[in-house]
Amino acid sequence: MAKILVTGAAGFIGAAVSRALLARGDHVIGVDNLSPYYDVALKQARLQTLSPHKDFTFHHADIADKSVIGTLAGTGISAIIHLAAQPGVRYSLEDPFAYVTANMMGHTVMLELARALKIAHFVYASSSSVYGANKKTPFAVGDAVDHPNSLYAATKRADELFTQAYAHLYVIPCTGLRFFTVYGPWGRPDMAPILFAKAIAAGEPIKVFNHGEMWRDFTYVDDIVDGVLRALDRPPASSPPHAVYNLGNNKSEKLTDFIGDLEKALGKKAQMVMAPMQPGDVPATWADIDASTAALGYKPTTPISAGIPKFVDWFRDYYRA
Ligand SMILES: NC(=O)c1ccc[n+]([C@@H]2O[C@H](COP(=O)([O-])OP(=O)(O)OC[C@H]3O[C@@H](n4cnc5c(N)ncnc54)[C@H](O)[C@@H]3O)[C@@H](O)[C@H]2O)c1
Repeated sequence: MAKILVTGAAGFIGAAVSRALLARGDHVIGVDNLSPYYDVALKQARLQTLSPHKDFTFHHADIADKSVIGTLAGTGISAIIHLAAQPGVRYSLEDPFAYVTANMMGHTVMLELARALKIAHFVYASSSSVYGANKKTPFAVGDAVDHPNSLYAATKRADELFTQAYAHLYVIPCTGLRFFTVYGPWGRPDMAPILFAKAIAAGEPIKVFNHGEMWRDFTYVDDIVDGVLRALDRPPASSPPHAVYNLGNNKSEKLTDFIGDLEKALGKKAQMVMAPMQPGDVPATWADIDASTAALGYKPTTPISAGIPKFVDWFRDYYRA
C-alpha cells in the first residue's frame, strides 16, 4: 500500500485520481490551496467525497510556497502526482503572474520535494496546449512544441523542460502527461461542457467560437484517471528517466457535434451565437496515443455519446438543473 502525494486534490482531475487511488488501497496525501479561480464550494464538495476515507489526509497549502517542502517531507510519501496548476488558456491573458506562480514556481517546489525525498516517481500534468496551432494531426509526442499560443501553454512546456533537467541531474523517474480537454462529472465550471450545459438548461445563448469551426479531442475523466494510474505504476527506465505521453481520446470531435450530444442529454435545444476565434485558442486538437498505448497499455473506452449522458446526470444532480 503506497503513500501518494496528490497536488490539486480538490481539483477536477486531482479529486478523481485521489478517489481511484483510495479505491485500490493506496494512501493519499492531498494538497490544494483552494484557489478562487473558480467556485471554491465545488472544490470543497469534491473534498467532501474524499475526506471520510480513513486513508485520505488533506493539507490546505500553496505549492508555490517553499515552506511546503518542510510540511510534506515528513509524511512518508513514495510518489507524487502533481496536478495543481493555474489552468485555463483564456485567463492567462488576464493574469499572467498567476501562471508563473502556480505553474513554474509551484512545479519547481514539487521537483525540489521529489529531489529531497528521493521519491520513486514524479508524475505531472502537462497539456495538449503545448502543441500550439500545429497543422500536422494527430499531435504526437515527438512533434515540435516550441511555438506556444498562450502563456498557459508556455508554462506547461516549461514544466516539461524543468522536469527533464531534474531527471537528468538527480535521476528522478518522471512522467509528464499531456491531457486533452477533459470532461465528466465534477468537471471545471470554466470549461465549455459546464458553461454550455448551464446556458442550455437555463435557455440562455451560448457563444460558439471560430464560428463553429472548432475540433477538440474530448477525453472522459475516467479514461484520464486510468492513464494517470497506469503511468504511476510504470516509471520510465530510460536515461534520463523522463517520459512524456499524450492522454487523449484519439478522436477529434467537432464542437457543434459535442453540443448536439449535450442537447440530446439535456432534452433542450442550444441557442448558438457564432463568434470569432478567441486570442490564445487553437482551432483543433487530436491526440496520437500510439506511444501511450504501447508503453502504458492506455486505451480510452468512452466515446462522447457515452460520456456526455454521465456528465449530464452529475450536472443535473449537482446544480439541481
Ligand atoms: N481539465 C483539462 O481539460 C486539462 C487539460 C490539460 C491539462 N490539464 C492540467 O491538469 C491539471 C489538473 O487540471 P484540472 O482540470 O483538474 O484543474 P482544477 O483547477 O480543477 O484543479 C487544479 C487544482 O489545483 C489547485 N491549485 C492551483 N494553484 C495551486 C497552488 N499554488 N497550490 C496548491 N494548489 C493549487 C486549485 O485550487 C485546483 O483545485 C492541471 O495541471 C491542468 O493544467 C487539465
